[in-house]
Order: sequence, then structure tokens, then C-alpha cells
Amino acid sequence: MCGIVGYIGPRDTQEVLLDGLEKLEYRGYDSAGIAILADHHISVEKHRGELANLRNALAKHPLKGHIGIGHTRWATHGQPSDQNAHPHLGPEGKIAVVHNGIIENYQYLKDTYLQGHTFKSQTDTEVVAHLIEMFYDGDLFAAVQRTLAVVTGSYALVVMCVDDPDELIVTRKNSPLVIGLGEGENFIASDVPAMLAYTRRCIYLESGELARVYRDKVVVTDLAGNVQKNIVDEIEWDAQSAEKGGYPHFMIKEIYEQIATFQQVLSGRIHADHVELENIDLSKEEVERWDKIYIVACGTAYHAGLVGKTILEKTLRIPVFVEVASEFRYRDPMIDENTLVIVISQSGETADTLEGAREAKAAGAKVLAITNVVGSSIARESDMVVYLWAGPEISVASTKAYTSMLIALYLIGFYFGDLAGRVDLRKEQETLRALEKLPEQAAEILEQDRIQQIVDIAKEYVDVEDLFYIGRGMDWAVVQEGALKLKEISYIHAEAYAAGELKHGTLALISNKTPVISVALQEKTFDKTMSNTEEMLSRMMDENGDISGARVLVVVKEGHKPISDKIHHVIEIPDCPDFISPVLAAIPLQLIAYFTALERGCNIDKPRNLAKSVTVE
Ligand code: G6P
Repeated sequence: MCGIVGYIGPRDTQEVLLDGLEKLEYRGYDSAGIAILADHHISVEKHRGELANLRNALAKHPLKGHIGIGHTRWATHGQPSDQNAHPHLGPEGKIAVVHNGIIENYQYLKDTYLQGHTFKSQTDTEVVAHLIEMFYDGDLFAAVQRTLAVVTGSYALVVMCVDDPDELIVTRKNSPLVIGLGEGENFIASDVPAMLAYTRRCIYLESGELARVYRDKVVVTDLAGNVQKNIVDEIEWDAQSAEKGGYPHFMIKEIYEQIATFQQVLSGRIHADHVELENIDLSKEEVERWDKIYIVACGTAYHAGLVGKTILEKTLRIPVFVEVASEFRYRDPMIDENTLVIVISQSGETADTLEGAREAKAAGAKVLAITNVVGSSIARESDMVVYLWAGPEISVASTKAYTSMLIALYLIGFYFGDLAGRVDLRKEQETLRALEKLPEQAAEILEQDRIQQIVDIAKEYVDVEDLFYIGRGMDWAVVQEGALKLKEISYIHAEAYAAGELKHGTLALISNKTPVISVALQEKTFDKTMSNTEEMLSRMMDENGDISGARVLVVVKEGHKPISDKIHHVIEIPDCPDFISPVLAAIPLQLIAYFTALERGCNIDKPRNLAKSVTVE
């Protein structure tokens, strides 16, 4: 996600800002910029691409001053470009703003408050700069307050004003922001690595708070302006663990980030009773014409597609085929102008998936991309795009992007299903409300006592050589991703099987050396999956009916106890409609893979032989 920095004090502001941005590079970005205020003028320098581009430009004409803001952008609204890079200015250049997050109602704000305004970028952020400047009548704090009263979404914002050279105003809602405290100087950043070289004392701004940051003091207030007590923390992390937010690996950090990414992918897309998706402009007739859908993807994205098959078949009532991209294009698939092809790719650069999209377009199909990277090749070459807004994923094993792909598929299913008039509206309402509850339910799964249960289970898998995952329907799709996660990072051989298919061969492999993970979240097939789990249990028993060695774990919804008392572990996920359970079920399976790999001492973020983005066919 975007990185924010700010500085007020006696040092060379340009250097402090650039240094801070460099420390935030690990967050991923596609452009960078700074703004410095001096002599009643705000100067801005911003460039697409590497921070080096910005550095080179500033080396030629440095910006001098003692108050400034900076930003590394990870695009959400608008392509990566010089114009879309932050900071953004108000119409007369009086206000400069850097922003991390998503302003959900930016179009409404443009239409309601900013008619006749000309914008230089396609970003949601520039709207905030214009609003603050419009509301400004000599009191910057009041202008920010008035702006926040009409803005919805998530944000961390730093605001600077030409008429107010001694103050930066910061605020945040659901996006991180830290204020670093110095002697006669203060720092602002999205994350502590940006300030560790200067100070270890900081204030973590709470969501919904504002702060007025001066050289020699920081005043924290609530939205109404009531002064709050400053709570000062001491940063104890070293630079390396600070990048991971104090987590030992990016993978576990990204697993926890799902609480926020669930929110982000839904952000501004669910309206009372329907879904709205930007970048899609199709008529009812076009959607009605589709007679089949292909989902084309690789690896984890392919597994998201397997869940997507059930989602889209339910919401659109047409057949959906899911294909591994490297197979799809050589198979001469039956595609024409009545086919929708959905390509899913976190990076948007996977060569096999990109070629699949090209093939589909050439055959006359409409191509819809689901990707996390704005402006990526797949995004550019597709007819329509739904972005995941999950922020950069650094760990090779995909976690937060996968669950965001699933949520995006629900949104797409309801959007097209509605257009074609094929969804059961009552069901849609129920599901949309349930999707909105996902962030808090993710937080429940990630509570410490639940984590401890998984840590303990993972210890049992340390010396395991083979492990089986079973499930039916959507649960089968879920366990395929669960098994891949375990293989990727722990190097344990894991197989995911359709629970009902075991008896046709694979059951021969089950013994007291093969632990089993059974996922049973679909009411319709719960009893059947439990019976299949029993079949496995009985293959693990000795002649006295005892099981020594391998263990059986089931994942169920709260209150759905398995019948057999031979089952060793039960992991419960919060209650939710069966239809959306794959999103929540993913989290314990990610955690099992993570803690097993941790016990086995594996290189979790960079597993052997694997790459994050595979740009060769
Ligand atoms: C690589 C990664 C996988 C990923 C796959 C597809 O193999 O290691 O984690 O799922 O590529 O990547 P994409 O960026 O297209 O989703």
C-alpha cells in the first residue's frame, strides 16, 4: 500500500523525506513524490517508477524548506503516472495532500461540491485536496474537519497549507499512520521504518483522530477537535522486523492484513441492495448473450477460480469452466463472442495467464481481469478490470490476494447476475450483508487463543511426509488451496481430494502415517464428508481400534460438531452462509501451512524453487 512521510524541523527536509520513502519501499509502489513549502509556495516533484527517478530529478533542482510531505503510491484509482503520483494540490496550489487508502465517495464529492473544478489526475485523492482548499478560510484545521465530515472511505492523510508554514495536519481512518517525536522536529510516516534513523518515540494515531504537528509539539484531537491525551510509545523493533510490522515474516503479516483487505475489496462496491463495479460498462443484453464462462489462471489464482465456478454458476446460471492457463491456450477452447473469459492474476503479469487473455480476445470473447496491480499487462490488455485493492503482497505464497480474489468473484457474480436478472434477490441481500461481516469475522479467527490451537496442531506435522486434505463442493476447492499452501512453504507432500472420490483409489494410501484435514462447511454435504472422514479414520486404526501416529483435523462452522469422538482436532470458523464460507475457511488453512513451515525451519517468505511472479511460459 502507499507509503506516507512528513517532516517539520531544521534538517534538510528533502533528504529526510527521500530517506523515509526509501525505508517504505518494501511496501511496494509504482511512483513517488514530495512537496516542500518555503516562501509561501509549495513546490512538488513527482515521478512514475523507481524512487531513483525522483532522486535524480531532485538532484538537478533540489527543494529547500523546513516542512514537507512525501509519498510512494501503489495505484488504486488511475494508472501509475507522473500526474497520478502524490502529493496532490488544491486548484490554486495552496493545499498539498498525501493519502493512503480509498475515498469511496469521490465521484459523489466531485458531482456535489466540486462542479466546474478541473482535475489534473484521475485519483480519488485530488478530490480531497480540492475540498480542503475550497473549505479553507484561514483555518486549516477547520477545513480538514469539514472535509472529513463529507468523505467516506479509508484514509491516512497529511495536509500542508501555504498560509500555515508551521503546521502539518494528519488524520487517519482504518489506514496506518505514526507520528515520530524528535527534539524541535517531528516526523510522520505510514510505518515506523521511515523514522527509526531519527527517533524511537512515537504516537500511534487512533482511527478517527487528527493531529496538529508542529516543530515542538503535537496536539492530538478527536474529529470534533477535543484535545486527547498523547500516548507516547517506544519503538523496540530493529529495522528489519519494523518492515514486517513486528511480525517475523511477511506471510503472517499478510495473513493478519486480511482483516483490512476484506474491507478494501468491498470498499464502495456494496450499495444497500446491489453491487457496483467501476471499469465495467455492459448492457443487460450483452450479459444475457453469454452462454458460458471460462476462468483462466495459475497457482493460487486458479484455486480462487475453482471457488468462482460455484459462485458464478449460482448467480448467472450458465456453465463455468476453470482452466489452468498453461493448458487453456493450447487446447483450442470453444470461445466466441458469446463467451466471457475471466482471467485472475495477483500480479497481472503471469505470462501463461496473459497469453490466455490474448487468445480469448482474439477469439472474440469479452475478457474480464481480476488483478491486484493497477496498470499491469493483464489489466491493460483486458476489456474490463476488477482490482483487488489488497496492497502489495510480498510473501511468495499468496494469502491476502487469494481471499480478495474470492470476494471479488462474489461481487462480480452478483453484479452480472443482477444485470441479467438471474439472482435470487433475497439471497443476494443475505449474502451481501454476510460479506460485510467478513472483516470482523476474520479478526475473530485471528484471535490469540485460536492461533494457539493451530500452533499446537502444527507441531504434530513437523515430521510428516504426506498429508491429505478432503472436502466436497466449495470445500474441495478450498482444500486444494490449503494443500498448495502447505506444499509451497513447508515442503510436505499434500494432496487435496474430493471427499467422495477417495474410495476410488486414494484410500489405499491412508495409514497411521498420513494425517488428514477435512473441511466440512457445506450443510448439504456435511454428513457425507463426515462419513468420508470416518472412512479415513478407520484406515488409520490398529486392530484394537486405536490410532497412534497420524491425526485427523476437521474444520467446521461454530456449533457443527463432528459425530465421531475419534477426531483429534476441531477448528471452528465463525457462522456464515455456506456460500461464502471459503473466504473464512482459507485463514486457518493458511495458518496451518505457516506454523508447520515455521516448526520445520523453512524459508517461509521465499520458498525454494519458487518465484512470486512468473513471467515465462
Ligand atoms: C506463481 C506464484 C503463485 C501464484 C502464481 C500465479 O507461481 O508463486 O503464488 O499463485 O504465480 O500468480 P498471479 O500473479 O498470476 O496470481
